[in-house]
Amino acid sequence: MTALLQLKNVSRNFGGLAALSEVSFDVHPGEILGLIGPNGAGKTTLVNLVTGVYRPSSGQIIFEDKPINRLKSYAIARMGIARTFQVMQPFPEMTVVDNVAAGALFATGASTLEEAKELAQVHLEYVDLKKFANTPAASLTLPNRKRLELAKSLAMNPKLLLLDEVMAGINSVEIDQSLGLIKSLVEKGITILLIEHIMKVVMSVCSRVVVLHHGSLICEGQPNYVTSDPQVIKAYLGSKFAARQNRVSHEQ
Ligand SMILES: Nc1ncnc2c1ncn2[C@@H]1O[C@H](COP(=O)(O)OP(=O)(O)OP(=O)(O)O)[C@@H](O)[C@H]1O
Ligand SMILES: [Mg+2]
Repeated sequence: MTALLQLKNVSRNFGGLAALSEVSFDVHPGEILGLIGPNGAGKTTLVNLVTGVYRPSSGQIIFEDKPINRLKSYAIARMGIARTFQVMQPFPEMTVVDNVAAGALFATGASTLEEAKELAQVHLEYVDLKKFANTPAASLTLPNRKRLELAKSLAMNPKLLLLDEVMAGINSVEIDQSLGLIKSLVEKGITILLIEHIMKVVMSVCSRVVVLHHGSLICEGQPNYVTSDPQVIKAYLGSKFAARQNRVSHEQ
């Protein structure tokens, strides 16, 4: 299978800190690839590199067979890569619909504001935010802000969507709703790189998982393989999780 996105020996240093070291993996079209690892492992840095916020210190990032690591953010967005922000960045004074329309204008370029607003309504409906279309973004609750982040990135009409902890801070009912939403995005043909600390989410939607630790890729494979890897358990999951997994597999 040809990869949609390829990282080849990608490194990024911040001063003396190696936030990412020689990371290589592929994202295949149509998959939900999980990206996990402890706090500070380099997950958001990787998203920032793929979306052109930062440049790699070395290595190559290739999207649809074209190198993108020297392109500006808007050019990468227009090629079909969108992301959500872990720290949400709505324009707080602007209405919800205008926030989404701004996303559409940024990435698609051509449309008029009116067109962008019409499209925005469609995306708001999709994430169940239409009733808040004309309220200021600042007044949204946390789960609704997460939905707004998702609508903004969908407005960019992405082929590849990078979701950076879209479920942090939301309750279990909302997590189940978000899981349904993520699965429906894949059915629409969007490929997803999912950064997530909630392992229930990773285990239930990801077809493969990549694990980062101190900026290095320490494991890659199917969810069950990755979560039983001793290095991953030591670095991230902890023995408690492993014990629980063992119990579940014995009960099955
Ligand atoms: N702009 C920056 N300048 C300096 N250091 C940075 C910068 N961005 C990230 N870092 C550092 O790079 C390392 C990786 O950070 P990153 O945000 O990518 O981790 P993460 O895996 O997303 O963690 P979390 O799970 O907490 O979100 C950290 O040590 C962080 O402090
Ligand atoms: Mg992060």
